[in-house]
Amino acid sequence: MRAGDLRSIFDRQAEGYDRRWARAAPVRAALDLVVGAAFSTLPDDARILAVGVGTGLELAPLSRAHPGWTFTAVDPSPRMIEACRRRAEEEGFAPRCTFHTGTLDTLAPGPRHHAATCFLVSQFITDREGRADFFRSIADRLQPGGRLASADLASDAGALRDMTRLWLIATEGPGVNEALVDRLHAVYTSEVAVWSPGLVADVIERGGFEPPMPVVQVALLHGWVTRTPAGERPA
Ligand SMILES: C[S@@+](CC[C@H](N)C(=O)[O-])C[C@H]1O[C@@H](n2cnc3c(N)ncnc32)[C@H](O)[C@@H]1O
Repeated sequence: MRAGDLRSIFDRQAEGYDRRWARAAPVRAALDLVVGAAFSTLPDDARILAVGVGTGLELAPLSRAHPGWTFTAVDPSPRMIEACRRRAEEEGFAPRCTFHTGTLDTLAPGPRHHAATCFLVSQFITDREGRADFFRSIADRLQPGGRLASADLASDAGALRDMTRLWLIATEGPGVNEALVDRLHAVYTSEVAVWSPGLVADVIERGGFEPPMPVVQVALLHGWVTRTPAGERPA
């Protein structure tokens, strides 16, 4: 999908985004639990990069558990960044955030981060090289051994239609009809890159990370944690 189209789609979704995800709160909780564990040994003053932060759902639990951490919240959608800023103000962690409206390549250079989150973002990049480059741009912003928690929709092609139906019922409730399943299945095989979990992990690795460890799967949603190699990286 083109960057401008994505930005206007997410600008439109920003206001109702949290409501749409409300039924999937247990899925988010599972993701938050393992990401919290994967990041638990970071220093008290760790810098966290949140790529495609949306309304900031993934930042809130990290900010509560670690009052000394700071966050760089990056998203090309102005409305999403505004919603994230509102959440951070309401929950009191806004002074620890830097908000950047734009993609990662437009973020000013700064100290490398200890870890990054990237939830439900890379799936919108539909070519393999572009998706690996996207992960490389995250790796470039991390310290040696910097951690990444990544989540995307994924499925083996043969199971995708059934998984799509299951995901729709789980996230929207009963009453899902087959026409809607067909429409979303078509989107997942064209505009959104819902690839096999193995292929997504391979692309993350090609972007400069160690082989990702799969840590969560609930229907279509998959989560991985990994890190950049520990040795010094070229500047
Ligand atoms: C499905 S939402 C996920 C938001 C949040 N991470 C979450 O899990 O709730 C995808 C977000 O990624 C942002 N996005 C899309 N393409 C991006 C890119 N190339 N770089 C950074 N963010 C991007 C969108 O604006 C949107 O806010």
